[in-house]
Amino acid sequence: MNMKTVLAISGALVLLAGLSQAQMGMMQGGGPGMMRGGMMNMSMQRHHYVMRNGLPGEYAGKRNPLGNSAEDLARGKTLYQSNCAACHGAQGQGDGPAGENLNPRPANIARFAKMPMASDPYLYWTISEGGTPVNSAMPPFKNVLKEQEIWQLIAYLRRM
Ligand code: HEC
Repeated sequence: MNMKTVLAISGALVLLAGLSQAQMGMMQGGGPGMMRGGMMNMSMQRHHYVMRNGLPGEYAGKRNPLGNSAEDLARGKTLYQSNCAACHGAQGQGDGPAGENLNPRPANIARFAKMPMASDPYLYWTISEGGTPVNSAMPPFKNVLKEQEIWQLIAYLRRM
């Protein structure tokens, strides 16, 4: 591909991104309660960020080293309830009380964690860096949780 083609393609991506953001905005602006329980609340900023930039190199090769034992899953659940549920909701639907007035809203991670985009490196990066790269209210956890704890959380997210 020459530079012109690359530019044309990235221009089209930016247009597409803008369009779907506007559409999301319309859906989110729907009547009260529409987003509760998380019909469409996915993290569009984050998805667009990754489409444009890819994941930072230090995260790209990350793989969950755990065997996802019952113990890891139980630990992941406890970590989830104490660090994430306030925003993402007890069942991961993006409907926790602390997330009600955030913009963007917390994502429905119970659903997202089962989608192909939710790779090990993607989830590890998201939890480590939080909202810093995408200007959201999600806190970074890299100085709060140990590497093993992040993997236990991820194991739990995939099964919740
Ligand atoms: C203060 C509220 C808050 C807390 C606490 C929080 N998050 Fe989030 N989270 C958000 C918001 C807002 C978004 C959507 C914007 C973004 O992607 O940063 C989000 C997005 C995400 C996403 C990306 C979903 C997608 O569609 O790409 C994942 C995964 C995630 N959070 C996991 C977690 C986990 C696991 C924890 C606990 C360790 C946690 N979050 C704690 C607010 C929070």
